[in-house]
Order: sequence, then structure tokens, then C-alpha cells
Amino acid sequence: MDHSRAPVLEALQEFRRRGDVVFGPPGHKQGRGVDPRVADVVGMDVFRSDVLSLNGLDDRRQSQGVLSQAQELMADAVGAEQAFFSTCGSSLSVKTAMLAVAGPGEKLLVSRNAHKSVVSAVIVNGVEPIWVHPKFDAERHLAHPPEPDDVRRRLKEHPDAKGMLLITPTDWGTCADIRGVARVCHEFGVPLIVDEAWGAHLPFHPSLPPWGMDAEADLVVTSVHKMGGAIEQSSVFHLQYDRVSPEALKQREDLLGTTSASSLVYATLDGWRRQMAEHGQELLDGALHRAERIRSAVAGLPGLRPMGQEIVDAGLAAEFDPLKIVIDVRELGITGMQAAEWLRARRHVDVGGSDSCRISASVTHADDDETEQVLVDSLRALADGADSIERQPAVRLPDPSSLELEQAMLPREAFFAPAEHVPAERAAGRIAAEMISPYPPGVPVVAPGEVITEEVLDYLRSGVEHGVLIPDAADPSVKSLRVVARSAG
Ligand SMILES: Cc1ncc(COP(=O)(O)O)c(C=O)c1O
Repeated sequence: MDHSRAPVLEALQEFRRRGDVVFGPPGHKQGRGVDPRVADVVGMDVFRSDVLSLNGLDDRRQSQGVLSQAQELMADAVGAEQAFFSTCGSSLSVKTAMLAVAGPGEKLLVSRNAHKSVVSAVIVNGVEPIWVHPKFDAERHLAHPPEPDDVRRRLKEHPDAKGMLLITPTDWGTCADIRGVARVCHEFGVPLIVDEAWGAHLPFHPSLPPWGMDAEADLVVTSVHKMGGAIEQSSVFHLQYDRVSPEALKQREDLLGTTSASSLVYATLDGWRRQMAEHGQELLDGALHRAERIRSAVAGLPGLRPMGQEIVDAGLAAEFDPLKIVIDVRELGITGMQAAEWLRARRHVDVGGSDSCRISASVTHADDDETEQVLVDSLRALADGADSIERQPAVRLPDPSSLELEQAMLPREAFFAPAEHVPAERAAGRIAAEMISPYPPGVPVVAPGEVITEEVLDYLRSGVEHGVLIPDAADPSVKSLRVVARSAG
């Protein structure tokens, strides 16, 4: 296929050249009505390129097939049989992908280190989750993806499960043995869905960990805005084999998706595919060398411990994305949240993630010598200045086994059941009616239907005291919790 073409961008260019006068949405009419104060900040081109797909990018009959051509080019570039663009982020795409495999009341294996969007899907879709517990790394206090044998065990216990959803890479760059898990799923005749929100770049360089389509998964969801170059909310479904019907995927996407897809998202997805197809290997080569330099510079700084290949050598993860610079800061005597706040306040450097132990910085094809220098200099300054950061009592990290909570009710039933709020002191033993997800990474520590324990409460509350954010809890301070009312439990 001709990867120098970019059908959406070309259609947008043509629309602008023709100067169509539009009497439908968007009401700003390609910027004619925009408040200049808005245009001053975000630029007029945002509005000029914001057009409807039908009767804008394409004609009323979609006869030029603008979007389908762009999707075919994407599939060809990454080696998938089919690709579909979504403008609603992977948060929505994972819900659709799960719904394409398991309907309400059906069972789906889900790795429990799932992002909150996956747990939301379990609630919204009404599937019965068969949790596959991740591998807890007590030393680093990290959850790595589950292994093929964990999946085999759960499929043997639940032979009626319709498939599996695996999350890899994690927010912290550790990756599953996708091929191993896919083969186990296929032995049982069910598809593997991979939430590869953090892996959009993986198809474009041979030294990066294998991605889902190359590793025999059936359906892969990526967020191109995370490690790739399209704008926020850009997400792609990739499909191969015949275990997931493209028709079911399309129709179930239609149930949840928007009828007003953003042309800006489509255009930037299209442009990213062209850039990667033409220059991906070279651009990612540069990023990989940069990440290696950053990691070794950080390893030489006192108190900072970058995570690397040792995680794979120790058998904790099958692969590791080297473009994720994950740095343990505990030896500095501070938390990752404190490090992140210090870097933002003192150096205007915004890291990608932080938790009680570490920070992470994503290196992409977009980094250059200047950003590399800024990152290394700021981390050096952090290592030198950490003594001046106020010491806090440590977050009370639970024993990994106590993070595996008993599931007493289905998440959907618990979420919609009559609920009450109880003070945290009286919440142990009660069934959660809400998700409680420290952010980032947004992986729920407590999912609806799980029985709350003292250890988890202690962990969450001490985390909040240290600046962990829990935006989805009814009471983000976790002084009280939303639990299933006694009469309903
Ligand atoms: C593993 C994982 N899946 C899905 C999502 C949701 O993706 P999006 O932000 O594109 O909606 C995220 C977001 O952080 C994530 O980390």
C-alpha cells in the first residue's frame, strides 16, 4: 500500500481548499464564530480543521471511503488484518472490545491489574469477571502482568469463559508474555483481547517488546496519544483471525461510541501512521538510544534507582519497554508523589506517573537533546536537593497477598445495589459499592463487590495522607466509603 498517502489529511486539506460553507455542526463554523480569546490560546487551525466526517471529510454517501482507506493503511502498517479508529480513547475502546467478546452475564477472564476503564466495563457491560491476579513484586511494590499458567488455571476452573483481557504494557512498562497467554486462550478456543493502551509504538521497532498482533492476540486496543503522536483520545482497535467478529465489534462500538467523531483525532491518527510507516524505525531508534543514555545517567545519581532489564532477568515480567524510564526514589527518603511535585514546582518538569515508591517518564520519538538534558539535569537537582524536602512517615504498603480481596458480589450488582456511606473505621468486612483507584496509575485497589479489609484501608488512608489522589471514590479522602447496604449484601 502507498504509505505516503494520508486520506484523512488529504480530505481535510481539500475541504479547506474548497471553502465549503457549512450549515450543520460544529456551530463555530470552522472558526467563524470562535471567540478570539479562545483562538488566541488554542489557535484558529484547531477550528478550521474541526469538521464532520459525513459531508465534511467525505461526502454524504462516504463514496470516497476516506476513513476506511485510512484504517486499511493503519492495518497494513502494523500488520493487523483490520484496524478501526476510535475517537473516544481506549477507555471506551476496551469497553467495546470486552463487549465484542462477552455479553451481559457471560464470563470473561480479566487481569486484576486492570485500569479503571476495564473495571468500569465490567460494571457497564455486566460481564462476570474471572479475575486473574497479577504477579506482585513485593520489593518494588509493583504488579506485573499475569503469566500463561495463571490464565490456564483460571480457564480450567471456568471453561465457559468467553475470552481473556490482558493489560500490557503496564503503566510502569512491564510486559506480559502475550504469545504464551494467547496460545493458552486458543487451546481453550477463546480469544485474547489485549489492552495495549501504552503500546502504540511497539509495532514500529524490532527492539521493542512484541505487541499483540505479532504475538497472536485476537483483538488489540491501543491509545495512540500515550506513546504515539496522535492527539488525546485517539485509539485504535486491531483485529486478526476469526475468533472475534468484526461485525460484532463494529455494532457494539456503535452502541457506545459517539456519532460526532473528531476529525482532528482521525487526522492525527492518519498522520501518525504515515510518519511511522515512513520513518518509525529511525525515529524510535533515536528514542531508544536516548532512553538508554537517560537510564544510565540516572543510575549514576545518588538515591535514584532506574528500573531496567533486571525485572525480566528476575522472571518478574516477560518484557520491559525501555522507553519507560521508571525511577525508584525511596532511597532519597521521599515518595514518588513528592518527587513529582518538586520537579514540577522547581523545574517545570511534569513526569508521567508517580506513586509512593517511584516516578516515571515516557521517552518518545518526540524527545530531543534539549528535553533529554532537561530531564537528566532536573533529576540531578532532585537527587541533590531531596534533603530539603519534608520527610513524611512512610506509606503503609500492604503485603502483596492482602491486595487480593474476596469478591462477595458481582461488580455490577454491588455498584447498583442500595448503598450507604460508612466511616473508614467501620468499613472493614463490608462490600464495596464503588471503585477506589489511586491515580496514577488508575488501577482500582478496591472494585465494587470486593470485601474491604483493614490492610487495604490502612494502605489507602496512609496513601491519601501522602498526597495519593483517589478521584473516583465517593469520598476521595477515604474517611468514609460507599458500601453495599446491609439489607442488599
Ligand atoms: C492500561 C490502560 N488502559 C486503558 C486506558 C485508558 O486509555 P485512554 O486514556 O486512551 O482512554 C489507560 C489510561 O491510562 C491505561 O493505562
